[in-house]
Amino acid sequence: MRDPKKELFGKKKPELDTPCLVVDFDLLDENLQKMQARVKTAGKALRPHAKTHKCSTLAKMQVANGAIGVCAAKVSEAEALVDAGISGVLVTGPVAGREKVNRLVSLLDRAPFLMAVVDHPDTIGLLENRLAETNRQLDVLLDIDVGQRRTGVLPAKAADLAERILSSSRLRLRGIQAYAGHIQHIPRYEDRKSASRKALRNAAAVFKQLQSRAESCTIFSASGTGTARIDLTSAELTELQAGSYALMDAEYLAIESADGSDAADYHPALTMLTTVVSGPHGRQVTVDAGLKALYRDGGRPRVLTPEYGKLHYDWFGDEYGKLSAPNRTTLLPELGMVIELVVSHCDPTVNLFDRLHITQAGKVVDIWPIDLRGRCQ
Ligand SMILES: Cc1ncc(COP(=O)(O)O)c(C=O)c1O
Repeated sequence: MRDPKKELFGKKKPELDTPCLVVDFDLLDENLQKMQARVKTAGKALRPHAKTHKCSTLAKMQVANGAIGVCAAKVSEAEALVDAGISGVLVTGPVAGREKVNRLVSLLDRAPFLMAVVDHPDTIGLLENRLAETNRQLDVLLDIDVGQRRTGVLPAKAADLAERILSSSRLRLRGIQAYAGHIQHIPRYEDRKSASRKALRNAAAVFKQLQSRAESCTIFSASGTGTARIDLTSAELTELQAGSYALMDAEYLAIESADGSDAADYHPALTMLTTVVSGPHGRQVTVDAGLKALYRDGGRPRVLTPEYGKLHYDWFGDEYGKLSAPNRTTLLPELGMVIELVVSHCDPTVNLFDRLHITQAGKVVDIWPIDLRGRCQ
């Protein structure tokens, strides 16, 4: 029988139908090993965030490299990870309302080491009721708001909410989550460092207080790709939630790394292939990756194809993008040429596609389904 996946094996990148997503396996492997080695040297654990790649095959590779589990942003993402056989899944987003609470509790049957964060007494009440009805227990982390004002409870109010959890026979307080999303992309390393130190200091104070209250509080989960190296020096932090380091994107490539250079600390393993479909139109050509293929958020996509590295990508409507030459002497690609780009922001871009073309030495060696795609519930 015809296997459309196998038919792609051995194809060179310019032979692929575009727009499409490509992952260089060796660069991905290097990124995973680099982060895992740093975490190990610091004596911490890694529970990488799967929301950035939405691919359970990649999540399994992270676990095979030493991750203790993976994070999921939403319950539907957690379901797909659990169904793929991954244990140690932490749901990092608040679960609100009866329907979602029931869905989370149902997942416990298939995922004994499932954990979730909580930040509100109403959710705690709903969880307790459902857990009692189904005779189950759930491990939870208290989500601490370290300044983003998106989710979590403020450090000053954490003790009261912790007491509420500790009084429950159905919930076991395992520690805290303190993700500082607003700090991850601060361009200057020193600025990012002082902001992250402050955020984690506040969270560490809460963690120590909870540890003295309950022996079960052993987890302090935080951090992202932008602050990972800074946060690994925190004495109290026990595990890292970084996600984007695996695939990377233009937004992260634009920030300064630890040694002060503007070189990326992790490689752009994920790229997008796009074809020139029209032009030249003056000093620009039109390519087939627009808003529906390349999510518009964060940094501007970068052209990686060496001879066209000076061209600027810009969105040109739903279906198209444009590559513009900064001056008359800059070479423009010809009609039909395939150009490689670093995507703007990996998470929402990956969410637009069904599969990752895995390549080695420029040729397709595997196809990985983006099986968490569209799972935003
Ligand atoms: C709660 C949480 N933890 C960890 C991460 C991973 O961060 P990054 O992709 O910047 O490494 C995210 C990403 O948005 C997140 O929302």
